[in-house]
Amino acid sequence: MNQKAMYKLSYGLFVLTAKDGNQDNGCIINTAIQAASEPNQMSICVNKANHTHDMIAKTGKFNVSVLSEKAGFDLFTHFGFQSGREVNKFADFAECKRASNGIFYLTAGTNAYMSVTVTKTVDLGSHTMFIGPIEDMEVLSDTPSATYEYYHAHIKPQPKAAAAKPEKNVYRCVICGYEYEGETLPDDYICPLCKHPASDFELIASEPAAPKAQEPVKNVYRCIICGYEYEGESLPDDYICPLCKHPASDFEKVEG
Ligand SMILES: Cc1cc2nc3c(=O)[nH]c(=O)nc-3n(C[C@H](O)[C@H](O)[C@H](O)COP(=O)(O)O)c2cc1C
Repeated sequence: MNQKAMYKLSYGLFVLTAKDGNQDNGCIINTAIQAASEPNQMSICVNKANHTHDMIAKTGKFNVSVLSEKAGFDLFTHFGFQSGREVNKFADFAECKRASNGIFYLTAGTNAYMSVTVTKTVDLGSHTMFIGPIEDMEVLSDTPSATYEYYHAHIKPQPKAAAAKPEKNVYRCVICGYEYEGETLPDDYICPLCKHPASDFELIASEPAAPKAQEPVKNVYRCIICGYEYEGESLPDDYICPLCKHPASDFEKVEG
């Protein structure tokens, strides 16, 4: 089986928005599709770790704003690199309006939006699929939609670190474009942005190995929340525990 077959799938990019009481929130997804035409339905797949996931599971409603080629990287960092659990993403965000369902849609960097009421949910393990009829939708501009490929080639800043630190390898998450630098990517690594596993990373830049001075020191770091143990020279700053999803700051070095 060739895992790289997954890379041949094409994706669009979207801001998925929800509203729970007074809280508005949204996140970037690449998993929105038309699921059926009679009745006209959409499906989205959202990681259970995302705050937007819990809001939709609770309220049963969401909007999908289709990102266009005019979307800047700031839109991706704003909605895709931080969580509504920690920040209010709409506090100072002006380029949005409320749709007829009361939920925000984005008016800049987008070319359309759809409003959906959830009628089915499917538990897929790491993600939940939410499916439902499209209750309302509008076209906002004629700018072409941003594909995932377009995002990598033209929106996301190109890696400078690879050239600056030639002794390192660079691994890129094929789902969201996050780049990990290091000698090797840990097998149990989870992308800190989109929460996809190490198997969704590809090696994009590599330097010939420098002559080995000595074997790297193996240290053990234990998650103080669930006890999971990570072995390696050092624990990456952005490491996420594969069991309980707590960050590197919740790991302690096991002495001896
Ligand atoms: C390019 C890109 C694509 C992403 N695709 C998805 C996706 O399809 N599903 C998902 O659950 N998260 C996806 N994410 C990650 C979420 O947008 C990210 O974890 C976000 O910070 C969650 O915010 P929230 O906790 O406020 O919901 C993607 C992120 C980026 C940058």
